[in-house]
Amino acid sequence: MTKPVFTPSREWSEDAHVNSLPQYKLIYRKSKDSPESFWTGIAGRMEWIKKWDEVKEEDFVNGKIRWFKNGKLNVSANCLDRHVAEGNGGKTALIWEGNNPEEDQSFTYSELLTEVQKCANVLKGIGIQKGDRVCMYMQMVPQLPISMLACARIGAVHSVVFGAFSADALRDRINDSECKLLITQDTGVRGTKQNIPMKINADKAVAETPSIEHVLVVKRTGETIKMQSDRDSWWHEKMDTADAVCAPEPMDSEDPLFILYTSGSTGKPKGVLHTTGGYLVYAAYTHQIIFDYHEDDIYWCTADIGWITGHSYIVYGPLANCAVSVMFEGVPNYPDFGRFWDVVDKHKVTLFYTAPTALRALMKEGNEPVTSRDLSSLRLLGTVGEPIKEPEWNWYCNIVGKGNCPIVDTWWQTETGGILITPLPGATPLKPGSATFPFFGIEPVLMTEDGHEIEGNDVSGLLAIKHSWPGQMRTIYGDHDRFIETYFSQFPGYYFTGDGARRDDEGYYYITGRVDDVLNVSGHRIGTAEVEGGIGKADGVAEAAVVGFPHDIKGQGIYAFVTPMTGVDGNETLAEKIRQSVIADIGPHVKPDKIQFTPALPKTRSGKIMRRILRKIAEGDVDDLGDISTLADPSVVESLVKERV
Ligand code: WT7
Repeated sequence: MTKPVFTPSREWSEDAHVNSLPQYKLIYRKSKDSPESFWTGIAGRMEWIKKWDEVKEEDFVNGKIRWFKNGKLNVSANCLDRHVAEGNGGKTALIWEGNNPEEDQSFTYSELLTEVQKCANVLKGIGIQKGDRVCMYMQMVPQLPISMLACARIGAVHSVVFGAFSADALRDRINDSECKLLITQDTGVRGTKQNIPMKINADKAVAETPSIEHVLVVKRTGETIKMQSDRDSWWHEKMDTADAVCAPEPMDSEDPLFILYTSGSTGKPKGVLHTTGGYLVYAAYTHQIIFDYHEDDIYWCTADIGWITGHSYIVYGPLANCAVSVMFEGVPNYPDFGRFWDVVDKHKVTLFYTAPTALRALMKEGNEPVTSRDLSSLRLLGTVGEPIKEPEWNWYCNIVGKGNCPIVDTWWQTETGGILITPLPGATPLKPGSATFPFFGIEPVLMTEDGHEIEGNDVSGLLAIKHSWPGQMRTIYGDHDRFIETYFSQFPGYYFTGDGARRDDEGYYYITGRVDDVLNVSGHRIGTAEVEGGIGKADGVAEAAVVGFPHDIKGQGIYAFVTPMTGVDGNETLAEKIRQSVIADIGPHVKPDKIQFTPALPKTRSGKIMRRILRKIAEGDVDDLGDISTLADPSVVESLVKERV
C-alpha cells in the first residue's frame, strides 16, 4: 500500500482556495449530486451578455452535448475588457520570454486589448466573418495569442497548427476545415535553430489549399522571404493602420471557439471542436482552483500554444482569471540546461507547469543548473501530458520545489478541454505518479473490456467518464459520426478516454497510458497509423508497422518495423529515406527512433498485423511472446527477435 509522501503545510493550505481533503470531498459531492446548481454558480463568474436558459444537455448516444444553452457571451471580452473595466488595465497580462535570453516583452491588459482589437479589425478588413476558420502556423510569438483572441472577438474559429508540423501536415489540416486565412511568420527561432522556415512551409502548403484567400505574415526574425503580392501581407503593416476599437461579437454559448487537431488511431487527424461558454468556464475555473491562482501570482506554463495545454492554460484560463501568464518561445536547454530556472528567477514565477519529458531531460544534467538559480519565488509545481514516474516526481519535488511546493499531476486530453483528474494543492495528500482524484463535477469510472463498471478500490481498467462537463469537446469537425464512434460507442452512456488506469486501495487514480494505437512521444500525441503512412510514402517501402517502446527521455520512442519492396535493400540509405519521408509527411517531432527491416511482419491468417508481438519485441520483452500459434507464419517471429535493433 503506497502512502502519501507529501501533504501541504498548514500555512500553504490556509490561503488555498480549497484547503482540506474534507472540504474537497464536500464540494465534490455537491458538484456530483447537483451539477446544474454547481455549474450555475461557477458560470456566473463570467460576464454574460444574456444568461443561459438551460445549464446542460447531455446525450451521449447522439453525441449531443450543450452547456449554458442560449447564453450569449464573448470570450475576448471576458479575457480582456472585463478586467480593464474593473480597473485592472495596468496589470500585466502576458509576459513573452524570447528564445534568446535578452529578448522579452510584456503586455498589460489594456495593451493586449488594444492589440487584439486592432487585429480583429485587420481580420475583418481581410474579409473574415463570424464562423470563418482561420489557421495559425506559428512559433511561440505574442502575435499567436493576440490573433486567437482576435478571432474570438469577431466569432471566427481558430485552428492553431503546431509550428513543427510539415507543409503537408499543415495543408491537410487547412483543407479539412477549409480555412480562409493563414497567419504565419517569416522564420522561427527555437533553441539553436535560428531560422525555422515557417513562411516557406506555409507557401508549400498554401499551394494546395484552395480555401486560403489570404496569408498574414508576422516579422519575427527579419529573414528575407518571398511575399506573393496578391495574397500575402505583413502583420505589422496592417496593424499599423488598423483602428484600435472593435466591439466584441455576442456569441452563442455553443458557437465554435476553436478547432485543434489531434491524433487518433487512424491515419487522419481529428479536428477536435470546442465551443464558447462551457469551454471558457471550465478552463478558467480549473486554472484558478488547480493552480490555486491568486491575484499576485506569476504563472508560467511551458507548453506550446500549438497544443491544448497552451490554449487552455497559457491563453484562455489564465487571461479569464486576470492572471499574469508567461509564454516562452525557447527550449529548456538553450542557452544551457538552467534556462527554465533563469526564467523563473527573472520573472519571479510562483506557479510553474511543465511536462515530465522536460523534467527527465533536465534531471539527467544533475542538480547544479537548478541549485545555482534562485527559485524561492516558486510555490506550486504542475505536470501534464504523460505519466510521471517516481524518480522525476521526487526530483521535481525536492530539488526544484525544495520540498515546499505541492505538485499537481494533472490528467486530461485535447478532447476534455481542461483538467479532469488532479490533486488540489491545498487539500490533497500526494503520491508520486498519481493524478489522485477527480476534479469537481467529474465522475471517472474504470470499465472492463466488455463494458462493466468496476467498483471498489485496488482495481484496474479502462478509464471512462460518466456524465458531461462544460469543457467537453462537442464534435470532430466535419465528422460527427466519427465523434460518436470514437468516444461513445465502446461503452454506451460513457465518454471513453482511450487510457487505462488503476485505482489504488485509497481511491487514488494512476493513469497507465493509452490502450489504443496512439503514442505519447515527448508529450506529443501521435497515431501509429500516421507514422506508418509517412513511412509508406518512402520509395522502396512495401509495408510498415509502428509501435512504441520505453524511452528514458521521450517517455515513448517510435519503433518502426519495415518490409522493403522485393529487390530493395533494407540498409541505412533506405532508413534515411524513411526518416526524411516521415519528416516531410508529419514533422521532425515524430521521426522514428529505431527502424528494423524485416522480410515479413507477423500476421494472423486473416492478414491482421499482430502488434502485441511487435510491442513486446520493441520493448525487449522477448522471453514470453504469448500465443503465436495463430500466426500465419510463426517463423517470422524468430527472425524479428534475432534482428532486434
Ligand atoms: C493523453 C492526452 C492534456 C494535455 C496534454 C496532452 C496522456 C495527459 C497525463 C497525466 C498520465 C497523461 C493520456 C491522455 N496524459 N496527462 N497527468 N498522466 N497521462 O493532451 O495530446 O490530448 O494527450 O495524454 O494518455 O489520454 P493530448
